[in-house]
Parts: sequence; C-alpha cells; structure tokens
Amino acid sequence: MHAVLVEKFGGPEVLTLAELAAPDPGPGEVSIDVAYAGVNFAELKARGSGYRVASLPFLPGLEVSGRIRAVGDGVADFRPGQQVAALTSAGGYAEVAVAPARTVFALPDGVSLRTAATLPTVLPTAHALLHEVGRLRAGDSVLVHGAAGGVGTVVGQLARLAGAESVYGVVSSPAKAAHALKAGYDEVFVGDNFDEDVYHATGGLGVDLALDSVGGDTFRRTLEALSPFGRLVSFGNASGAAPWQATQAQLYPGRSVAGFSVLTLAKTEPEALRAIAARAFALVADGSVELPVTAEFPLAEAAAAHRLMETRTTTGKLLLRIAD
Ligand SMILES: NC(=O)c1ccc[n+]([C@@H]2O[C@H](COP(=O)([O-])OP(=O)(O)OC[C@H]3O[C@@H](n4cnc5c(N)ncnc54)[C@H](OP(=O)(O)O)[C@@H]3O)[C@@H](O)[C@H]2O)c1
Repeated sequence: MHAVLVEKFGGPEVLTLAELAAPDPGPGEVSIDVAYAGVNFAELKARGSGYRVASLPFLPGLEVSGRIRAVGDGVADFRPGQQVAALTSAGGYAEVAVAPARTVFALPDGVSLRTAATLPTVLPTAHALLHEVGRLRAGDSVLVHGAAGGVGTVVGQLARLAGAESVYGVVSSPAKAAHALKAGYDEVFVGDNFDEDVYHATGGLGVDLALDSVGGDTFRRTLEALSPFGRLVSFGNASGAAPWQATQAQLYPGRSVAGFSVLTLAKTEPEALRAIAARAFALVADGSVELPVTAEFPLAEAAAAHRLMETRTTTGKLLLRIAD
C-alpha cells in the first residue's frame, strides 16, 4: 500500500510517499481501506515538532473514512465492507489504516464517505467544548478563536443551535471573517485586538464562555475577557507558546479554566467519546450542522495540504482523497 511517512521532523517536504506492507488489525482493532483522510492542525504540529509522536519514523494521520477491510480478535461490531469513520492514533494518510474498534463509528444514514472524513476529530471536539466541558447555557455569550477553521466552523453552528445569545469569533483575515459569519457567528473580530473588541461588544461585561486554541498571551488575555463567572476551555496551542498558567488573582473573580483533548478522551474514556460523537454526528446527519470541505488533495500531495494550512488562509476542512 501507499502511505505518507515522516522520517525526520521538519517542513511539509518531510511528508514522503512510501510503499509499505498493509497493516493487519491486532486484537480489538480493525483495518480500513481508506477513502478519505481529514487534515488536522495537530498533524502539522506532529510533522513539525513531534507533537504526540512516540518515535521516528512515523505515519501521520488522525482520522479517516472508508470501508472495513478486516477485523481483529474480539471485534464483534464491524464487518468487512462496512462504511465507517474512525479516529486513528496515527497512520491515517495511507491506503490502509488501523484503528481501535472503540474509536470507529458506523457511517450515519445519508452521510457520504467524503463528509464522514470531516467528522471524527472536529465534531466531538466542538460538541464537548461547548456542552460537556463548557456547560453552555441558552443566553450565554461565547468567544471562539480560530473561528473560520475546522473546529471553529462547527462551534459557531453548534453554539447558535444551543441558543447562545451572542457568538463572537476571532480570525486573522477579513476573508475568514466572511466565512465565519456564515457559520453561526454574530460578530467576528479580525486581528489581535480581540480583548478590546469583546469589551466593547459586551458593554464591558466580558463573555460567559471562551474557547482558546492559541495559548500563550492569547490564553492570558482571553481569561481577562471573561465575565465574572465566565469559563475558559483551552483546547490547543497553535502559537507554540510555553504551557499556560492561571494565577489565583486571575481566577478569584469566579472565573474557571478547563481543558479538552479528543485524542486524550479517545484513550482514557472511549465510551464517553462514543456518546459525544453520537450526539454530534446526529446533527450532521439531520442537516443541522455542515462542515464544508474547502480543499482536497490526492494522497501523494499531502505536503501541499500542509503548506496550504500553514498559510493560515484556509477555512472549513481540508481532505486527502485516497480511494473513493
Ligand atoms: N483539543 C482537541 O481535542 C482538539 C481537536 C481538534 C483541534 N484542536 C485544535 O484546534 C485548533 C483548530 O484545529 P483545526 O484542525 O480545526 O485547524 P484549523 O482551524 O482548520 O486551522 C488552523 C487554525 O489555527 C489558527 N492558527 C494557525 N497558526 C496559528 C498561529 N501561529 N497562531 C494562532 N493561530 C494560528 C488559524 O486561525 P487564524 O488564522 O484565523 O488565527 C486556523 O484557524 C488547533 O489549534 C488544533 O490543535 C484541538
């Protein structure tokens, strides 16, 4: 089979196409003939600096859609040929991928393999950020960094569906603001003055819930942009800054900070992840939420997909087309 291999950390050029033996599933696993692989910001971090990579060489790719090729011992819920979407801990940029059966999901009715590849990371993440972790209540105001990207595009729609009073996004360009405004956001702040923008938009109150994927100084300023009993959920560190810290003085106005990682939940509480994914996927199946695919590349051009995402001009979801 063909698969993308990384032998040293570096720029997109280290993503090389290799010919490898197709993997077999171990106990509790399935193998999948991959149709599409989603492209995630976390894969850029893995390629560039080894984020969540155990050792080199490694096979990148955290989510796929396709058809079950074979099932390992102890797997009763899937059969060869069945169409699925899956979280893979690695190796999704390949013609054949292996995933633990507990993070494989039967395709919801009416959802194509192409759409299915956009679901496994973003949909449960967006749902958990707002609901299971962020405890969104109708009438809340919400602030979302990276509002036009994969996660941001879904969060805006979910927040609107849940009755948030005001949904504010932060993006790096006017073109991205236009995309976010079509994805549920009431107002989108462009550039780096988001804390002042929040102050003016909320009449000095601050927001009830903020979702931060940037970290560093953005995390610190977002904490200060919360209302007195506001909640901040940290879910990424796109800035590459040192790990954040929150002081008592920052929290004593009654603010709280939580965190979320879909990859951690997949390892520690896969049943909880399945429950969240079922709730989130149902909203795609019934048409309440859409995650547009804005760029698609063949497997051999995975480096071009990474280059494009690194330009910070992309909106929605990027895919690798492998076999559909
Ligand atoms: N914790 C979880 O479970 C989880 C799951 C999925 C994704 N994530 C995180 O959520 C974020 C979005 O992921 P995605 O895969 O959907 O990607 P994406 O949003 O489609 O693309 C990357 C995003 O990062 C922002 N960005 C890029 N470089 C940046 C930088 N140097 N500083 C600040 N922001 C930068 C861009 O927004 P602007 O250009 O508009 O600033 C863009 O929205 C990433 O940080 C990712 O690691 C976390």
